[in-house]
Amino acid sequence: MSEEILILDFGSQYTQVIARRIRECEVFGSILPYTATAEEIRQRNPSGIIFSGGPASVYAANAPICDPEILELGAPILGICYGLQLLAKLSGGEVEPSSHREFGKGLLEIAEPSPLLEGLESPMQIWNSHGDRIVKRPDGFKTTATSGNSEHAVIEDSERKFYGIQFHPEVVHTPKGTTIIENFAHKICGCGRNWTMQGFIDRAVAEIQEEVGDEKVILGLSGGVDSSVAAALIHKAIGDQLTCIFVNNGLLRANEAERVQDLYRNYFESRLHYVDASKRFLGKLKGIKDPEEKRMRIGRTFIKVFEDATEDVGDAKFLAQGTLYPDIIESVPIDGNPAAKIKSHHNVGGLPKKMRFLLLEPLKRLFKDEVRAVGRELGLPSDAIDRHPFPGPGLAIRIMGKVTKKRLTALREADTIILEEMKRSGWYDRVWQSFAVLLPVRSVGVMGDERTYENSVAIRIVESRDGMTADWVKLPYEILETMSTRIINEVNGINRVCLDISSKPPATIEWE
Ligand code: XMP
Repeated sequence: MSEEILILDFGSQYTQVIARRIRECEVFGSILPYTATAEEIRQRNPSGIIFSGGPASVYAANAPICDPEILELGAPILGICYGLQLLAKLSGGEVEPSSHREFGKGLLEIAEPSPLLEGLESPMQIWNSHGDRIVKRPDGFKTTATSGNSEHAVIEDSERKFYGIQFHPEVVHTPKGTTIIENFAHKICGCGRNWTMQGFIDRAVAEIQEEVGDEKVILGLSGGVDSSVAAALIHKAIGDQLTCIFVNNGLLRANEAERVQDLYRNYFESRLHYVDASKRFLGKLKGIKDPEEKRMRIGRTFIKVFEDATEDVGDAKFLAQGTLYPDIIESVPIDGNPAAKIKSHHNVGGLPKKMRFLLLEPLKRLFKDEVRAVGRELGLPSDAIDRHPFPGPGLAIRIMGKVTKKRLTALREADTIILEEMKRSGWYDRVWQSFAVLLPVRSVGVMGDERTYENSVAIRIVESRDGMTADWVKLPYEILETMSTRIINEVNGINRVCLDISSKPPATIEWE
């Protein structure tokens, strides 16, 4: 696979969405910070380049400006929003700063035929989010579409294959935006449809075989999607040279340890080293109430247990991890770039940098939805692929206060009921996460004729795109009612159920 479209990131919150849209066209798209030099880009020999949007004005003192030599590489360029304004400015046009931002829906009127706009109806709904606008087109460019607020909503220099659009084709509020991206990738850059998950698997298998040779690989399974798919892919490539390590920290959901063992031993017939360290973890957590202290102790214990397990497994040269593309994208050094703040702070369960292994990260070029598609192609069951995220420190951060066996049991049972009802009602696949939180807050109740004085459970159900922000889900009352009734009737020690109706921010998804 040699064809690639490079996306230069000028700090837009949608940069990763552009890359995903390109890949949905079955073309490989990757992201570079806008500071990449023309020489670096020349070496990658891209079929096309996209300048992303960004929060700045091209006139701002610290505006992100790319190497102007990039315009001389001969590759087609598509500028989106800020990218258009920069392309126009670098090509000799004029952009007018505006005091207010144009934000929201608009209508695009096509003025002239263009390969970029082929197959679109006019007028067409678009999504705007820009302040500045072009007042003078650069020489050699013509306007092919206008919108209510931009005289030059789409411009092009068909000779140099430079295109610029003022709106955002990558977001869902531009319903036909994908056609524009398709047109750029296939008609203008001439890319074929080479980026498919089956193609990825074939190449990844060959690359893993080449990289690993006769050596041994170990992989820490968490039970989550990423490590499961990484394991299945590596197993396909090298079979028994892979040993998976699965640590039961005693903080897992009901039946999780059995599920993982069953999947890897019976379904994949791969080598699995199962370590039941629940006593060790619970010992370390004894009496600990502070959330950060809990996380730290779990993290440190995990590292020790995992290191011991690797000794038991024997001589491995590689450590495999389910690192994904968003984990390795360099964030753009711009003030006010929200993406710059977005990084995973959740490295509990992460391993120390200086282990004696070489890293094997076969998913590091994939987005999450692509990882799921690879998992499906590899035959992983839906239960392993379409599951909600689960935090490394497990149920410990869903029990407020001390973690005890009794509290874990109560939380597990409540959690199971919530998951069962989510699946039964068809809501499970429509939300980001759904789980129970145990509140050791006692309140009075009556059960039959008896007075009770027991703990409470909070139901937490959120929708989210990436876990960075989240909204609480307005689940139908009947489902909540069933959950509440079942939890109070079936779980010992719980006599009250509450619903968490906080969004993130200012709350977080997990309670600790
Ligand atoms: P918060 O609570 O920060 O969670 O809003 C955002 C997302 O991250 C998950 N999460 C974790 N995942 N290790 C993980 O692998 C962790 O330590 C961890 N803490 C939170 C959380 O479940 C949610 O999806």
